[in-house]
Amino acid sequence: MKYTAIEPTLFLENRKKLAASLPDGSMAVLVSNDIMPSNADGSMGFKQNSDLFYLTGVDQEETTLILFPSASNPAHREILFLRETNEHIAVWEGAKLSKEEAFQRTGVSTVKWNQDFKNLFRALMAEAETVYLNRNEHIRAAAEVQTREDRFMLKCKEEYPLHEYRRLAPLLYRQRSLKHPIEIELMRQACAITESGFRRLLNTVRPGIWEYEIEAELCHEFIRLRSNGFAYSPIIASGASACVLHYTENNRQCMEGDALLLDIGADYANYASDLTRVIPVSGRFSPRQRQVYDAVLRVQRCAMGLLKPGMTFAKYNAEVGIAMQEELLQLGLISAAEVKAQTPENPAYKKYFMHGTSHFLGIDVHDVGYFHEPMQAGMVFTVEPGIYIPEEGIGIRLENDVLITSTGIDDLMANIPIEAEELQDIMLQGK
Ligand code: GLY
Ligand code: MN
Ligand code: MN
Repeated sequence: MKYTAIEPTLFLENRKKLAASLPDGSMAVLVSNDIMPSNADGSMGFKQNSDLFYLTGVDQEETTLILFPSASNPAHREILFLRETNEHIAVWEGAKLSKEEAFQRTGVSTVKWNQDFKNLFRALMAEAETVYLNRNEHIRAAAEVQTREDRFMLKCKEEYPLHEYRRLAPLLYRQRSLKHPIEIELMRQACAITESGFRRLLNTVRPGIWEYEIEAELCHEFIRLRSNGFAYSPIIASGASACVLHYTENNRQCMEGDALLLDIGADYANYASDLTRVIPVSGRFSPRQRQVYDAVLRVQRCAMGLLKPGMTFAKYNAEVGIAMQEELLQLGLISAAEVKAQTPENPAYKKYFMHGTSHFLGIDVHDVGYFHEPMQAGMVFTVEPGIYIPEEGIGIRLENDVLITSTGIDDLMANIPIEAEELQDIMLQGK
C-alpha cells in the first residue's frame, strides 16, 4: 500500500456499529475479493472487497472476517482469518500480514490462519441461529462473474441449509453512506491529490497535446502523492468526444478551439474522489462554449444550494431538472413547445442532460446508499450536471464532491478552480 497507515479506530468503530445492529444469535461473515486471473500465469491488480476493507482495513486477498457479537466465547466475537504467510511468499510476493501486524492494522485481537477456518466455523455455526451474508446489491451492478462472496454464500447454504440467512447489504448500505470523520479526512486527501493533478494540467494542456499524454501527467502526479492511481477510468475527452459519457479511449489529439472535458479522480487509501472540469485547450473558451459552461455552472450552484439533511432525491432531481430546463431554453436548445409536451418520465431536458445529478461517493466511486431515503448529515455526494450538444461538438460537465452537514454542504473541492475566468487566467499566465 502506498498510503499512510489508517488509524485502527476507524475499523474498530465501524465493526462496533455493525455489531450493534446484529440481533442476538447472529453471525456476519465478510470475505475478500478474488485476485482475477488474466491469461497464462498473470493476474489483474488486486482490489479489496469494499465492505471488508471498511470493517478491517486489510488490503489482502483470501481474508475473512467473522462478527458474532453474542458468541459465548468473547474471543470469538470478532475473528479475522488470513492467508498464512511464509518465507516463499515473502520472497516472491512480499510478506503478507503477520498475526501481530493484522492486529495492529485492524484492532481485531483474534487472528487465525485460513487452515483453521473450517473447524472453527463449524463450532460457531452450532451456536448461531442466523447468518448475515453479503452480496453486491448495487442497483446498477451488472457482473457476470461469480465473486468469492457469491461462492461462500452458496457453499454455506449447501453445508448449513437449516440456518436462517439474512442480507448484510442493507445494514452496510446505511452505515457506509454516513461517513466517519476519519473517512472524511481520507476523502479530503483524495480530493487534494486530484486538485494537484488538475492544477498540473492547467500548466500542461496546449493545442497539439494528446489525451493520453494528459492521462500520463495525472498518473505521475497522483502516484507521486501516494495515491493508488485513478479511482475509476479517467475520461479525457476533447471536442465532440466530451459528448460520449463513458469515453475512456483518451487517444485523440487536442486541437486549438476544443474544450477538454476531464473526469478524473484520484483514489487515496481506497477512497475515491470524482472531479469533472472542462478547460479550453487554447486557454480561452469560444463565446458559445462559455455560454454553455456558465449555464452548467449555474445549475451546479443551484443543485448545491438544495442539498441538506432531509432533502429527498425525488425533490432534488425535480428542482435541478427545472433549473436545467430554464438554461436549455435560454441556450435555444429546447423550445417552449417541447417543454409543454414533456411528461414527468420524459422531461425535455433529458435530450441534453441524460444522467443523474448526484451519486453517493466513498470507497466505491458510485458508492452504496439508498436513493429512496432522505439525505443525512455525513453523506458525501457528487454534484455533476452537464449539457451535451453533439451537433455543436460541445460537452460540458462540472462535478464537485460535497459532504452534507447539519445546515447544508461542505464542498470538498471548493479549492479547485471552476470559474471560467479563473481557469483562463491560470492557463494564459506566462503564455
Ligand atoms: N466519473 C464517474 C462519474 O462521474 O460518475
Ligand atoms: Mn460522478
Ligand atoms: Mn466523474
